Amino acid sequence: MNAPFDPARSAPTDAQIRLAAQCRDGTAPRDSRDISTVPASVYTDAGRFLLEQAKLFHALPVVIGPSVMLPQPGTAMTQDGFGAPLLLMRDARGVLRIFLNACRHRGTRLVDAPEPTETPMVICPYHAWSYGLDGQLKGVPRPETFPGLQKPAMGLVEIPAREAGGLIWAAPHRKAGIDAPDFTLAVGPLAADFDALGLGAMHLYARRTHKVASNWKLIMDAFLESYHVQRLHRNSIARFFEDGVTAGDVVGPHMRSAVARVGGLDGVDLADWPALRRIVTYAYQLFPATVLVASPDYVNLMVLMPQAVGETLVEDFMLIPEAPTDEKAKAHWAKSWALLDGMVFGTEDFGAAQAGQRGLASGAIADLTLGSLEQGIRRFHETVEAQLAR
Ligand code: FES
Ligand SMILES: [Fe+2]
Repeated sequence: MNAPFDPARSAPTDAQIRLAAQCRDGTAPRDSRDISTVPASVYTDAGRFLLEQAKLFHALPVVIGPSVMLPQPGTAMTQDGFGAPLLLMRDARGVLRIFLNACRHRGTRLVDAPEPTETPMVICPYHAWSYGLDGQLKGVPRPETFPGLQKPAMGLVEIPAREAGGLIWAAPHRKAGIDAPDFTLAVGPLAADFDALGLGAMHLYARRTHKVASNWKLIMDAFLESYHVQRLHRNSIARFFEDGVTAGDVVGPHMRSAVARVGGLDGVDLADWPALRRIVTYAYQLFPATVLVASPDYVNLMVLMPQAVGETLVEDFMLIPEAPTDEKAKAHWAKSWALLDGMVFGTEDFGAAQAGQRGLASGAIADLTLGSLEQGIRRFHETVEAQLAR
């Protein structure tokens, strides 16, 4: 295990400092187009959803979760939300690989382990073929009945996966070594920011999967503008934030933003990371469908798994600096989890996405209208369009 993350021993990246300075000085570049629109059909058209599945979710690397979801060597877990049965395994040396959860003998599902499970190997329940955590076929009962079987060629089917900045990225619908996608733009550009946040050394406090009756992009939209914070979140977190004091930039296909919290940035040493995090909340929209929100002392990672045009699973992971050791710490984190996962995301943001889906499905409006505080949404949709046109 890594040492617990200590924000006082880490430093913000230049980009994180730059966005904070733009919030403080009011110098964030503003989009010249004040009003733009998004067609309602991109959220409601079933054919469009299938195209997004093919061009985005079956083609590009996506975030599977934080590395600390599988923290210990010699562990395995399953994940079924991405439309392929995934088996994540971290071997004795700590190397993570992801395989399809299907036996090479007759295809049987091998493991049901939604939580990380310690195991030296995987044994198929049907005829007990056994596999190492590196996916290699180790043993076949009654081997004389399989004359000529090439065991080295009968390992589990691996999918392309990478770890960087404390996140696990993978391409669940591709095959490792045959048609792996380019991970450069996925894992590269923001890893330094995530290392500064200490993602890979944090403790996974809780995870929960929400079933949201909305198109996946309506959920992304809620994390691409700060316009709603003082309105939708008026009874929860609005009091912590300035209204619309924000700065952001585009990093490859992803977006990074900083939102100023009340208290003001004047006089704050922007290189003092704990002080900076108390006064700025950073959010990251990782293309295509992951959101990371860095609160002052914890991080929420939300992984969106579209299931249908109007249905999305969202797995919310809350990472904290270290496992709580006393009752006071336990109560503190339980309160943060209830506020963010229960109320802000679970009830308010996802509730707004569901209400949006119902309204759009009625055909009431042909286009959604975006103001100057919502241009992050426009940029995101332009990135989606560009990817679909490839
Ligand atoms: S199907 Fe797995 S051992 Fe037969
Ligand atoms: Fe929100």
